[in-house]
Parts: sequence; C-alpha cells; structure tokens
Amino acid sequence: MPTKVEMEKIVSLCRRRGFIFPSSEIYGGLSSCWDYGPLGVELKRNIKQAWWRAVVQERDDMVGLDTSILMHPQTWAASGHLEEFADPLVECKSCHLRWRSDDLEGNNCPACGGELTESRLFNLMFKTSMGPIEEEANIVYLRPETAQGIFVNFQNVLNTTRKRLPFGIAQIGKAFRNEITTGNFIFRSREFEQMEIEFFVKPETDKKWFNYWLEERRDWYVKLGIKKESLRLRQHTKKELAHYARECYDIDYLFPMGWAELEGIANRGDFDLVQHAKYSGKSLNYLDEETKEHIIPYIIEPSAGVDRSALAFICDAYDEEPDKEEIRVLLHLHPTLAPIKVAVLPLSRREKLVTVAKKIYADLRRQWMVQYDDAQSIGRRYRRQDEIGTPLCVTIDFQSLEDEQVTIRERDSMNQIRVPINELKNTLQAKLRGERFDTQPLWTTKG
Ligand code: GAP
Repeated sequence: MPTKVEMEKIVSLCRRRGFIFPSSEIYGGLSSCWDYGPLGVELKRNIKQAWWRAVVQERDDMVGLDTSILMHPQTWAASGHLEEFADPLVECKSCHLRWRSDDLEGNNCPACGGELTESRLFNLMFKTSMGPIEEEANIVYLRPETAQGIFVNFQNVLNTTRKRLPFGIAQIGKAFRNEITTGNFIFRSREFEQMEIEFFVKPETDKKWFNYWLEERRDWYVKLGIKKESLRLRQHTKKELAHYARECYDIDYLFPMGWAELEGIANRGDFDLVQHAKYSGKSLNYLDEETKEHIIPYIIEPSAGVDRSALAFICDAYDEEPDKEEIRVLLHLHPTLAPIKVAVLPLSRREKLVTVAKKIYADLRRQWMVQYDDAQSIGRRYRRQDEIGTPLCVTIDFQSLEDEQVTIRERDSMNQIRVPINELKNTLQAKLRGERFDTQPLWTTKG
C-alpha cells in the first residue's frame, strides 16, 4: 500500500510555501473557496498544459473550445440539471447545520446530536440574474460543468472543422456547485476547474471507446508520476449513476482521507444531443457518409478536476527523508509539473559571483520558470527548493570564475555534476526531459 500523508501536512506546506491560500483570507476566508498562490498557479498551469497537450495537441481526433460560463437558461432544462442536479439535504433543528442525508450514518446531527428535519432536495446550481433587473425571467446559472458548452457547440465544430466520427472536443474551465458539504481542502469546493472531453462516437462502438478512454486517462496520471497503486477504477452502481449516464467509472485516488474520485468516465449515450435538439428545435444529427444515414452519436466523457489533480499530484509527490538531525521534506513532482524547473544559487553575494549568476538566471528565465535565491546557507537553499519540488539547482561557486563551469544538483538523488556554462542550457534541457544523471535514473514513473 502507498504511504499516506496526513492532509494537515499538505495544507500547511501549501500555505507556507505559497501554493494555496484560503480565499479572501483578510476577511476571514470564504467557505470552500481557495486562492492559488505564486507556486500553485504554476502547478495548475502545468497540469492544464500537460492535459491539453495529451488530449488535443498530440491527437488529430480532438479539438478544443472555450465556452462561456453563463449559458442560456434552457441549457439547464435540457441537460436535466434543473430537475436532477440536487442532493438530499437535512437540517439540524438545534444547531441549524445542514448535511447531505446520504452522507449520514445515524438519524441525528453529527455535530450536536440534535433532531434532523425531513430530507428535501437541494439544487446545487448557483443562480444569478442577467441585466439590471433582478426578476425570475432574468435568472441565469453559473455552469456546474463545462460539458454543456461543448454539446451546444457540436454543430458549430462539425461545420467549421469537418471532423468525422470518432472525434472529441476538449475544454478546460471553471465550474460552480453550491455543495452542501465541502471540505478536505481543495478536494470539494464550490468553485473549481474542470478538464473535460466529450468524445463523439458511432453508437455501436461505444464500449470500445469507453474502455480506451479508461486506460488512456489512468495512464496519463501514471506518466506524470502518480504511483499505480494509488489509483483504482471503480464502477458506479446503478443507484449512483447520474441521470445522463449509461455506465460510469471513477478513477479514484488514495487521498489522505481515503479513496475518492479524481476523474469520472461516463458513457452518456445520445442523451445530451437528443435533449438539446429537443429543447432548441435544431437538428444535432450527424450524416454518416458511408451509410448515408443520419445518426445521433454517443458520447464518452472523461471528466477530470484540475484542483483534485493538483491535490493528488502534491500528495503523491510528498516525501520526508531523514537528513542528519533533521527531516528533508521534498516533493518528487514530475519536471513537467514542477512550478519551478531550475533554481540559480550563487554560493555567496560577492559581486563577481552575483554577476555570473544573474547572467545565467536571465538567460534561463527565457526558457523556464526559474528562481534566484542567495539567502542563507547553500544547504538551506537546497532544502527550500526540495520542498517545492524544483528538480534542478545550479550552483555558482568561486571555481566557476576560474573554469567557467557550474554545478547542477538533482533533487531526488541529490547527485551533482559539473558542466561548462556554455553547455548548461542543453544539459538542463536533457535532464528535465529525463536523461540519466550519473548512474541514477532521474524521473522514473513510480510503481
Ligand atoms: N460533466 C460530468 C461531470 O461534471 P462530475 O463527476 O460531477 O462529472 C467531474 O465531475 C470532475 O470534476 C470530478 O471527478 C472532480 O475531479 C471535479 N469536481 C466535481 N465536483 C467538484 C468539487 N465540488 N470540487 C472540486 N472538484 C470537483
């Protein structure tokens, strides 16, 4: 079994080093909303970029979209969200805390033991109004998933790209859910980001593509460093299935609080295109050029969360190692995801060293996110970089002034090599791509 790290350690590291802060903290925070700090924003950007690269850039059967968060209200009638997107809610008659009744084990309030109200359905969509007059007719919703923006653009994409089945559309964007119970840090929040694929296929090929995407998506996490044994596939029971799904599997990750959903992969059948055609009155058919028949494609949907992925990547990368009298905390983040790729560390603040170090820093920054750090001992500086997952440190010492060479030190093995300054960039590039460092493999996919 993989070692589990306590959530408090992750929250503390994220806060201390500027990955994630509570939202609007100076006002006491806003429940279940989070702000990504200077390192968190880089991690998130890297996750999204890696996903986009894997599912759009490197494939010829996928295209991307970026649709608006506010959509025509009929969208949510057609999608079933107005009717179905609700959780059963109970309220404590004494302390007035609210709970999801399907989360509760007993019949009383878990906080104070008080009596609970009857369960009623609570819609999770955030409402707002469009235009200057707040009235029922102007109600719009903050989208609870990015998927609907894709479905309503199906014909636009078909007409403008001439894609043929099977093909997919990808989108990354914010989604909002007025969750009844939140918690576990960024695992369940009310504002979050999704990375969704809607893959359109001929109906008779749905099983094949469903299995294909299950494998493909699980492998993506593993290639980026998540241990195989920290992941599992879990099939939804009939009772759990969303109203639109024929079949669904979760890719679960072993989070500090236990196994929980990281990504869902659903076979949505023709539900969405049929519904939107019905509500909009527009044809969302596809002409199969081989058979000359109009068909409604089936949709396979791998739907991932950026925030949950960030949490899983951080938890899986977290490690503590004995280090003389102390403990070395490090994040074994894959270089593709590491917020900072290289740190430039002059051994002292002497002018001659600083001049060389600053020149190297300026040059490397054109290619990567690089940090310059000249505060405290070199050992401390290495530890600071280890803790934020920086794969490589470049140290400039007095010898560098004589031989025009610098030291590259690798995070995981702590191995060091010395390279000429004029070969530094190429060497860093090769190391970040995974070239072996002495005899030690650099970035192995664990598990
Ligand atoms: N379009 C399908 C859909 O939205 P979902 O299982 O409800 O499916 C997909 O959500 C993914 O979005 C989840 O696997 C999770 O990663 C992320 N997600 C959902 N609700 C979330 C929340 N409240 N906070 C953070 N991430 C969430």
